Amino acid sequence: MANETLTVTDNRTGRTYEVPINDDTVRAMDFRQIKVSDDDFGLMVYDPGFTNTASCRSVITRIDGDRGILEYRGYPIEELADSGTFLEIAYLLIYGELPTQAQLDEWMREITYHTFVHENIKKFMEGFQHDAHPMGMLVGTVAALSTFYADAKEVDDPQSREKQTQRLIAKMPTIAAFAYRHSRGLPYVYPDNDLSYAGNFLSMLWKMTEPKYEPNPVLERAVDVLFILHADHEQNCSANAMRSVASSRVDPFSGTAAAAAALYGPLHGGANEAVLRMLTEIGDKKRVPEFVKRFKAGEGRLMGFGHRAYKNYDPRAKIIKETADQVFEVTGRNPLLDIALELERIALEDDYFIERKLYPNVDFYSGIIYQAMGFPVDMFPVLFAIPRTTGWLAQWRELVQDPEQKIARPRQIFVGEKRRRVVPIEKRNAIREHAA
Ligand code: CMC
Repeated sequence: MANETLTVTDNRTGRTYEVPINDDTVRAMDFRQIKVSDDDFGLMVYDPGFTNTASCRSVITRIDGDRGILEYRGYPIEELADSGTFLEIAYLLIYGELPTQAQLDEWMREITYHTFVHENIKKFMEGFQHDAHPMGMLVGTVAALSTFYADAKEVDDPQSREKQTQRLIAKMPTIAAFAYRHSRGLPYVYPDNDLSYAGNFLSMLWKMTEPKYEPNPVLERAVDVLFILHADHEQNCSANAMRSVASSRVDPFSGTAAAAAALYGPLHGGANEAVLRMLTEIGDKKRVPEFVKRFKAGEGRLMGFGHRAYKNYDPRAKIIKETADQVFEVTGRNPLLDIALELERIALEDDYFIERKLYPNVDFYSGIIYQAMGFPVDMFPVLFAIPRTTGWLAQWRELVQDPEQKIARPRQIFVGEKRRRVVPIEKRNAIREHAA
């Protein structure tokens, strides 16, 4: 369209430039031509935290944060969580279409085939301290997997990409469960390939002396739904870590380890752990107003509230709330739920939260469910990492096949000292004293 341009006048020089607008976006590099003199570097754009910078063109996940919409490949998350299984949705994220029955059967066969890990991985995990955080174990072990699959380096080979995709999706629950068993001093349980993806995970976690573990169908489905809700979320911190690290063409095991490390942080995948700690600290419904006051005063944050993308109720939080009711029918009600409900009620009526459009996000209720199911809090980020691996892989596959992508390498505005001379160490004190 002829008018799809932006006209910029540089008031330093009086010169005017016209830059194209495509998809409501201007290209940062189009500003580089804007210079005061020929030897000038040219204009940069400054965007710490990438709050208004698109780093890629993507067809995987769409979020409309103002309307509280989340879609994988065009399908609303509510419909996917209602009718699909996690492996079906993983197929959708990876390949772009929902599978036919034959495609799903084949996909499930491949994933099941790869659920075991090399015995040396088991030994590797045995080396961790008994009180090692399971997420730290997961990050380290996924990175170690890259040393077991030399073919993973062939990131431009479509067959290798298929193989690594299947391996990672299949092995993540195994490593996660081993990390849990390790931290409890329990023997590792090998995968049971008769069970579903979620059912097998529960078996590897909870199986004791019974010859065959039978997962409770309500809890198995709840885990599957939580996995669907956490599978991808477009360019979040860990997806960006995956893309940034993988842009160096490193293998996807190393990329996934980097993404998982990003997920470990309390502002990202560590948030549901932080929510539980916060609810436990509040301890009683009556203390909620006092804590809300503190959050408003900047003394800590109301964890599980607010989101970079959503300025409305996170659609995943709604589905999780419904799942919570089903889980509590089996496990009994988590007493922290009452504190969470009261926090939500008070915060949603408070001007501070209304003005800043802070609503519950996916992590506000997920921890309460996980705790009721018997997961210790330090397993929460691990439970997030299992399904999100699919999202990271979908992002990685899109990145390595995108001819526009380059190695991620941002610019900086240098604001430090310009050129200065090194002072010999024996003279530094005297100079500093003189300056003071
Ligand atoms: N409690 C109290 N105040 C908050 C909160 C909160 N949870 N979140 C944001 N604010 C305030 C913040 O202080 C700022 O106020 P002001 O304008 O007066 O300085 C304003 O709201 C905007 O906050 P921001 O930090 O600029 O927003 P952001 O987009 O950079 O941060 C966030 C997004 C998710 C990191 C943040 O909302 C937060 O820290 N939330 C708590 C942690 C959490 O629940 N994280 C899980 C995110 S969902 C899981 C995932 O997808 O990874």
